[in-house]
Amino acid sequence: MRRVRKAVAGLMCSTVIALTAVISVTYAEDIKQLTGMRYAMLARGGVLYDNWLDEKGVKIDKTHPSYPAEGKQKGSVTWRCKECHGWDYKGKAGAYSEGSHYTGIKGIRDYANQDTTAIVNILKNETHAFDTMLSETDLDSLALFVAFGQVDVDLYIDRKTRKSIGDLSNGGRIYLSTCTKCHGYDGKDINFKDSKNPEYVGTVASKNPWEIFHKIRWGHPASSMISLVFLDLKEQLDVLAFCQALPTE
Ligand code: HEC
Ligand code: HEC
Repeated sequence: MRRVRKAVAGLMCSTVIALTAVISVTYAEDIKQLTGMRYAMLARGGVLYDNWLDEKGVKIDKTHPSYPAEGKQKGSVTWRCKECHGWDYKGKAGAYSEGSHYTGIKGIRDYANQDTTAIVNILKNETHAFDTMLSETDLDSLALFVAFGQVDVDLYIDRKTRKSIGDLSNGGRIYLSTCTKCHGYDGKDINFKDSKNPEYVGTVASKNPWEIFHKIRWGHPASSMISLVFLDLKEQLDVLAFCQALPTE
């Protein structure tokens, strides 16, 4: 029995080492080349992708002209990048392939590691027409996020079980010394919804791991919530694993 357990532990160990190697190879050459204000802009780009309207205090009532008629959302939410392209950056090929957020629009994965000027031009094109609403710095920040900030989540979060490949105990060390200041040890100090349908860190982490992974990396728009993007990707996934062990109700 003990020998079996040892073998399993050994196997898990080598899996972790193999995964760490994969992560550093796919990750090292892109985001790490950014320093100084370019890094600050990248971090802001992640927040703007989530909700640039909230972050900038912009109010729009009408629906985005490019939001498809068959889509179920309307009004200001249809202007958020995530609404058309997804929390997993895969649009119709990802979590938004069905359900109330379906739009049939493709994701932004093809523009990872691409030229930021080309991405800014996309954001100014007729489909998006963001040049009248966002400053050049905002557009550059979003382009940096698209080029260097997005990751292929399917390498790290199981599509079916929705579980992070991260290590819960290391994630706990990070969560319990940072996130806990605002969200509490059990993630329940802030209720994101209402008392009837409470939603906590643990709830979001198990329901929509791609959303909370984005927020772990970039923070929450228009709030004091910090970004953990400076940590290694592996550690960000550890935090996600810990959040997935928190109570959901
Ligand atoms: C109302 C829906 C909508 C919103 C909001 C939206 N987009 Fe798009 N986006 C589209 C459509 C439609 C396309 C064209 C997809 C195609 O060619 O099939 C597109 C294409 C793109 C592409 C090129 C993808 C490719 O592979 O050709 C990028 C990059 C992109 N959008 C980034 C963004 C960013 C960043 C934001 C937020 C500032 C954003 N989009 C907001 C609808 C939207
Ligand atoms: C300085 C305070 C602070 C810290 C630290 C902090 N958060 Fe937050 N967080 C907030 C605030 C404020 C909100 C917005 C709450 C709202 O709008 O109801 C938020 C929102 C969220 C949301 C959004 C849920 C949703 O659906 O809108 C998640 C998930 C989350 N935080 C997880 C975390 C995690 C994980 C950490 C640690 C990496 C963390 N937060 C660290 C303050 C913080």
